[in-house]
Amino acid sequence: MSEIFEPKKSRFNNPAFKNMCEYNDLMNEFKEDYEATWGRFASEKIEWFKPYDTILDESNAPFYKWFVGGKMNVAHQCVDRHLDTKKNKAAIIFEGDNGDQRIITYRELAYEVNKTANMFKNQFDIKKGDRVVVYMPMIPEAAITMLACAKIGAIHSIVFGGFSAEALKDRIIDAEAKLVVTADGAFRKGTPYMLKPVVDEALKTGCECVKKVCIVERNGEDITWVAGRDYSYNELIKYESSKCEPEMMDSEDPLFLLYTSGSTGKPKGVQHSSAGYILWAQMTMEWVFDIKDNDTYWCTADVGWITGHTYIVYGPLAAGATTVMFEGVPTFPDAGRCWKMIEEYKINQFYTAPTAIRMLHKMGADEPAKYDLSSLRILGTVGEPIDPPAWKWYYEEVGGSQCSIVDTYWQTETGGHMISPLPAATPIKPACATFPLPGIMAEIIDADGTPTEIGEKGFMCITKPWPSMIRNIWGDSERFVKSYFGDCKKDGKPVYFTGDGAMMSEDKYITITGRTDDVINVSGHRMGTAEVESAIKKHPNVAAVAVVGKPHDIKGEGIFAYIVLKAVATQEADQTADELELSKEINKIIKNEIGAIALCDEMAFVPDLPKTRSGKIMRRILRSIVKGEAITQDTSTLEDPSIVGKIESIVRGA
Ligand code: WT7
Repeated sequence: MSEIFEPKKSRFNNPAFKNMCEYNDLMNEFKEDYEATWGRFASEKIEWFKPYDTILDESNAPFYKWFVGGKMNVAHQCVDRHLDTKKNKAAIIFEGDNGDQRIITYRELAYEVNKTANMFKNQFDIKKGDRVVVYMPMIPEAAITMLACAKIGAIHSIVFGGFSAEALKDRIIDAEAKLVVTADGAFRKGTPYMLKPVVDEALKTGCECVKKVCIVERNGEDITWVAGRDYSYNELIKYESSKCEPEMMDSEDPLFLLYTSGSTGKPKGVQHSSAGYILWAQMTMEWVFDIKDNDTYWCTADVGWITGHTYIVYGPLAAGATTVMFEGVPTFPDAGRCWKMIEEYKINQFYTAPTAIRMLHKMGADEPAKYDLSSLRILGTVGEPIDPPAWKWYYEEVGGSQCSIVDTYWQTETGGHMISPLPAATPIKPACATFPLPGIMAEIIDADGTPTEIGEKGFMCITKPWPSMIRNIWGDSERFVKSYFGDCKKDGKPVYFTGDGAMMSEDKYITITGRTDDVINVSGHRMGTAEVESAIKKHPNVAAVAVVGKPHDIKGEGIFAYIVLKAVATQEADQTADELELSKEINKIIKNEIGAIALCDEMAFVPDLPKTRSGKIMRRILRSIVKGEAITQDTSTLEDPSIVGKIESIVRGA
């Protein structure tokens, strides 16, 4: 059994949960009257324009509806409603790559959001329900754009700035976006990089839905302007009024789409709601991050991912907090950048990913000791299982053994945290997400709903709908039902399956064991192996390919591709040189099709893949080979059992 660390009570003053009794009490309240308890929080936390009539409508399950009939507005919840009490409080503290700073108060944020909202309406004819694709760096205008969309009821779809033109284009077309908001570019490690040329490339063909492009100036580099299509944000904003009435939004009106990887080649447009989403974003800020009025909170994610949506912008602002937004990278100018910022801004909650923790540990294990990090109260981690050595370094060296670590387990689809310690209450174990949050009915079961035995792996399911859950996959309801409600049942009723495996210890602690599907987790980013495979297949010499995750020191998992070439025999003359050249070409295709985040770490050119007689690729064998594990699978059902040995010797010899 692993070590247990009691929470450091001295660092907390009146937290939402003081001990596990309070946790159990609320969990029991939810179990006794699930809907009424959610209703109580919804009434308390959301400033409704019109109260809801029904808490939960299950009549069209799994298309659940929450707080039906209620009218509200997420931008009002995040900004306007704070103006009475917090107008001069910092809402966003921005620090640029070069160290430049901008502090935006709630009053200033309201001013900018309203002007931007009016600009979208008046200049770009954006109406309620229209989709706006946002391809932006980590600058305050990204948050302002999100909130401006929310204010007028437009649905934003942020595409991470690391995605290629091709990936951006696919997402624009799928969402039928009317407007793209971007920037000239931004700065990274002291050097300008560009975004607008990627948008130009994406819009070359097939994006007739896009009428206008709005460009924020950030790095001042030269860009090309397409007359009648491209407009300067900085110019147009000058003429807009700073008054803008919020659109009356229905609880269930979509707030945003965010594309994420699944087990097919096509990314899924995860659709989130307004009221349920913002409710849980705000509640988890209060519960998991113990956000207090004088706190300064910093999450290092990018707004292009769900963590950036919920825990840089929506959650902190709904809770009336001060949120730090950072344009740069944790290792520039050196591995002390984050610790320096924590000292300077007196950060109370720091939230990052295991991949960053491992990198900072490796590059500067002694760096944290050089700074005053005593303001820290909570350290958060998210995105992938964190390994005990990284956890320990984070706990001891960054937190000085005085902070609570919240290992938060959740997904793009869950909208907010599902399983996490409560910082002042939960005794924590290294690398363990601990217990479901109150209100979240997370269970580890088999496909029929039977709870798995202690210490046995099972499916991580959420067996009751919750307010911030995914509502649909944009334009593909069938895939929504199949992807999330197709695998597991409880009491004969389909329940939400996360795609992750998990197990429970004797004392009910939950450990997430990782994905059970063909999704890999590279540096905390979800990558569909099918997406990478379909990019690789675009190379004219590739006959077949299978991609698997391979354990990686920093990234958690790296991408490993098994590739079968066409006309293998003719390649043999100068095979090594050819393979090197081919690897480069293939990675170039991946970069163009998806982006640098999907580049293969390793490729093995093999004579064939292990296929069953019915043609199914046995990926488990391929996974075992890259991990250097003994092959325990039955290979006798393979079309050619000898292929396993051949592949093994190629991979091991490499
Ligand atoms: C997948 C979701 C949630 C925001 C960032 C990623 C893995 C996430 C943890 C954790 C173990 C984790 C799961 C999940 N994951 N947090 N604390 N411990 N695994 O969002 O891209 O939707 O990925 O990340 O495998 O399914 P995402």
